[in-house]
Amino acid sequence: MDIRQLRPSDIPHVQQTNITNLPENYFCKYYLYHALSWPQLSYVAVDVSRPKKTPYDAPKIVGYVLAKMEEDPADGIPHGHITSLSVMRTHRRLGLAEKLMRQSQRAMFETYSAKYVSLHVRVSNVAALALYRDTLGFKQGGVEEKYYADGEDAYSMRMELDYLRNEALDQESDDESTAGQDEGGEVGSAGKAGEGGAEAKKEKKRKVRVGRGLGVGELVERNESTKDTNGTS
Ligand SMILES: CC(C)(COP(=O)(O)OP(=O)(O)OC[C@H]1O[C@@H](n2cnc3c(N)ncnc32)[C@H](O)[C@@H]1OP(=O)(O)O)[C@@H](O)C(=O)NCCC(=O)NCCS
Repeated sequence: MDIRQLRPSDIPHVQQTNITNLPENYFCKYYLYHALSWPQLSYVAVDVSRPKKTPYDAPKIVGYVLAKMEEDPADGIPHGHITSLSVMRTHRRLGLAEKLMRQSQRAMFETYSAKYVSLHVRVSNVAALALYRDTLGFKQGGVEEKYYADGEDAYSMRMELDYLRNEALDQESDDESTAGQDEGGEVGSAGKAGEGGAEAKKEKKRKVRVGRGLGVGELVERNESTKDTNGTS
């Protein structure tokens, strides 16, 4: 099973999955609005167990999460919202919904600095309530009466995303405490002292700045200097 970002070309297949699993259905343009406005937040689960017969075969989409950032949030706090989530009956209880949700929540935090994620769920939806409350840790808010078109009430639920911030801080302090330490033992002749060995060790100890430490300005300057030295672009 492959979990990846939703692409515009997936939309008809996601729409089919949605119609099969839920009474809340949307026009194609509503999916497109999500995919184009917040491309990092919506994911699909693709069954890749059976190889494609031709390059034109459609991907077998067995689950999806459609998510967005709340525009003009009433409380002024940037937060994400789960518009729709479903997994095909044939592929349930495999942890797919949990993975789709976690991917989307992480992207909300990392890409848009979302402080929390919100959603609505039917009061009778035992499976979804167990997933949100017990597995993921959402808190149940109030009941929104007659929220759904058929008159059923919804629970409004939300989950704070500060656990992701703590994870990121832990990771940063781990990185700092291991910085400069030699990684692992010698591998092959390149790791051994002797011909080329000392050079390899020197190479290993050189510190490089990666990821967040490397600003855009620095990248631009580096490109420029490469151009100058080599006389090529
Ligand atoms: C709700 C739904 C998305 C769950 O998908 P899933 O991929 O089967 O869920 P997961 O395998 O990730 O389940 C994670 C946890 O959720 C809970 N859960 C999932 N299905 C459950 C069920 N039928 N009964 C009770 N708990 C359930 C369990 O705690 C489960 O953990 P476990 O398998 O270790 O016990 C799926 O049942 C579905 O598509 N239902 C129809 C559409 C729908 O209701 N969408 C939600 C709209 S708000």
